[in-house]
Amino acid sequence: MASTASSFLVVFLLVAAAATTPARSCAPSDLHALLSVKAALGNPATLSSWSPSSPNCCAWDHLRCDDAGRVNNVFIDGADDVHGQIPSAVGGLSALMSLSLFRLPGLTGTIPPCLTALSNLQFLTISHTNVSGPIPEALARLRSLDSVDLSNNKLCGGIPAAFADLPNLRSLDLRHNQLTGPIPAGLVQGQFRSLILSYNQLSGPIPRDDAQDEINTVDLSHNKLTGDPSHLFVPGRPIGKVDLSWNYLDFDLSKLVFPPELTYLDLSHNRIRGTVPASLERLSTLQKLDLSYNNLCGPLPRGHGVIKHGCKPYAHNECHHGTPLAGCQDLS
Ligand SMILES: *[C@@H]1O[C@H](CO)[C@@H](O)[C@H](O)[C@H]1NC(C)=O
Repeated sequence: MASTASSFLVVFLLVAAAATTPARSCAPSDLHALLSVKAALGNPATLSSWSPSSPNCCAWDHLRCDDAGRVNNVFIDGADDVHGQIPSAVGGLSALMSLSLFRLPGLTGTIPPCLTALSNLQFLTISHTNVSGPIPEALARLRSLDSVDLSNNKLCGGIPAAFADLPNLRSLDLRHNQLTGPIPAGLVQGQFRSLILSYNQLSGPIPRDDAQDEINTVDLSHNKLTGDPSHLFVPGRPIGKVDLSWNYLDFDLSKLVFPPELTYLDLSHNRIRGTVPASLERLSTLQKLDLSYNNLCGPLPRGHGVIKHGCKPYAHNECHHGTPLAGCQDLS
C-alpha cells in the first residue's frame, strides 16, 4: 500500500512539473526567424500559435526544439491557407535538422538558396506543393542530408549531379515532377535504401553502379530511360523492390539472375527481349511480378511463377525473333 501511495505521489509531482514548467525557453534568433516565416506565408491561421504574445516559441505548434531551446524541427502540412514562396527567413533557423512542407497547394515559387544555410539539415520534405523551377545544385552542400523528398511538385531541369556525392543520403524521392536529362552517374549508389524518380521525363541509360550494399527500393518507372539495367542485379546484392516499368529499356532478359530477396519486380511496358529467365522460379518471396508489354519469346518458367502470379505478368509480349512466348495457362 505504501509503495502504491508513493508512486501516485511521484506521478502527481511529475504531472505537476510538466504542467507548470515552460518546456524550454526559445532562442531569440529562432523566434524572430519564425515570425518572419509566418509573415512571409501570409500570416495563416494554421500558424496562429506563432505569436509574440507567447514568447516561448518552443511551445508553438508545427515545430520542436532541442534541449538547448533551438528549433530543430519544423513541419507545416495540409494547410490551404499558407500562401507564397518558401520564405528566405527559414535560413535563419540555423539548428534545423528537419524541415517538412507537405500538402501546401498555395506554396509557390522556387526552392530558395537560403536553405543551404541549414548546415545541420538531415530531413528535407517539400512535397505536394506548387513549388516549381530547378532543384538547386547548392542543396548538395548540405552534407548531413539523410532523406530528401521533393515529390509531387512542379520541379523541372536536371537532377543535380552533386547529389551523388552526398555521403549520408539514404532516401531520395523526386517522383511526379517534370525532371529531364540523365540520372547522374553515381546516384544509384549502394548506400541507398530508397531511390524513387518515377513519373518524370528522365532519359538515357541507368548509370552503372558497382556498389554491393543492400537496396530496398528502386523506382524509376514512367520515364524515358533506355539501355540495359542488368547491372542493378549484381549477384550477392540484396534488392527488395524494382520498378522500371514504362520506359524504353531494350535488353536481353534471358541470362539475368535475380537476387532471391526480390519482393517486387515490374519491368512491364519496355522493349525487353530474350526469354523469361529461370532464376524467376526461385524467387519465393516475390509479391508482384509484371513482365507484360515487352518483346519476350520462348517458354515460360515452369511451376511456381505461373502458379503464384497467374498469366497476367506475361501478357502482350511481341516476340520479334524466335518462338513466341509460350501460351500461358492460368493455374492460380
Ligand atoms: C497547385 O495549385 C492549384 C491551383 O491553386 C491547385 O488546384 C493544386 O492542388 C496545387 N497543386 C498541389 C500539388 O498542391
